[in-house]
Amino acid sequence: MKFKTREVHAGVSPDPVTGAILTPIYQSTTYVQESVESYMSKGYSYSRSGNPTVSALEERIRSLEGGAGCACFGTGMAATTAVMMALLNAGEHAVVSDVVYGGTHRLSTRVLNRFGIEFSFVDTSRPDTVRAALRDNTRLLFTETPANPTLKLTDIAAVSGIAREREIPHAVDNTFLTPAYQRPLELGADLSVHSTTKYMDGHNQTVGGAVVAASREHDEAIKFVRNCLGSNMSPMVAFLTLQGCKTLSTRLDAQSAGALEVASFLETHPMVEAVCYPGLDSFPQRDLADGQASGHGAMLWFEVKGGVESGRRLMNTLELWSLAENLGSVESLVTHSVTMTHADMAPEERQRVGITDGLVRLSVGLEDPEDLIADLRQALDRL
Ligand SMILES: Cc1ncc(COP(=O)(O)O)c(C=O)c1O
Repeated sequence: MKFKTREVHAGVSPDPVTGAILTPIYQSTTYVQESVESYMSKGYSYSRSGNPTVSALEERIRSLEGGAGCACFGTGMAATTAVMMALLNAGEHAVVSDVVYGGTHRLSTRVLNRFGIEFSFVDTSRPDTVRAALRDNTRLLFTETPANPTLKLTDIAAVSGIAREREIPHAVDNTFLTPAYQRPLELGADLSVHSTTKYMDGHNQTVGGAVVAASREHDEAIKFVRNCLGSNMSPMVAFLTLQGCKTLSTRLDAQSAGALEVASFLETHPMVEAVCYPGLDSFPQRDLADGQASGHGAMLWFEVKGGVESGRRLMNTLELWSLAENLGSVESLVTHSVTMTHADMAPEERQRVGITDGLVRLSVGLEDPEDLIADLRQALDRL
């Protein structure tokens, strides 16, 4: 079946007892077993280990990414944590993109490092830099592309090739483009990681995460860690995310079209210093953007003239755009990465990787782009 059909139907069939078209919210802690001998014969024992509503969402996301298995989590960070804890032991080393979601950086440098795991944050947009960062004890390559918030891209096929040569798994955080536009496993990656909080939910209703594995072995290892950590998704979140997934590519298409309009407008405004959007001709990695993804997404950033003070005034003056942490929702959001999503990164490290103090991140929603542009214009005109 085609992608859009799977978005609506994968993992779900009418309830055999009632005919309900939607998989119910199985709000049950435990599952009554028929006998000791037939323990788990219906597939479930306790909702930390597995839940039927969560299984339906896992099957949908697995189908959209084209993997062997999928595990859903209570948050995107729980998904990333499970990947790292399943694949890394004390004394081992991971290579991570130098621009990643701030929480991934914080998890590596403030938590997992305390358990004897080493991390190198390198420019994964350059395969030669990735190769040079490998050590004898490297056991994981973790990239994020497009990266939050700079939108720097990593060539998934090239880095997966390096990983394969060394028999090291390559995990890709695919939150920004989702399988609607980018399918890392088809490009050779081993794991695709998501904050489902973002585009899969799409409506600012939930926090959740998912890991799709290309192999059954990785899927089982991740589900084992999830059960140990107790980080499974709740059935209510799975139910809402199942509804969000039905319109994933339709929303993304409309939001991406809006993002191109917004980015094109910003390029023309005299108070704008710089604009970055993968769909603009000025995007430095435009060929890679077109080559490994089927769309450019709905995230962009810009800098205003007048530095941090102007940026601050602009964000406080916007009316239709909400100043908020999160992205990917139908509501358009504006975020100041330095004070919000990447506040825990050392200022000099942020500067080094291009997360400047004046960077204004936009997540374009489903509102009419004309209204979004009018709001940006009134705020920019007042600077
Ligand atoms: C790219 C990316 N990965 C992972 C996460 C973490 O997801 P969550 O907030 O659902 O824990 C985020 C959150 O913003 C993100 O932007």
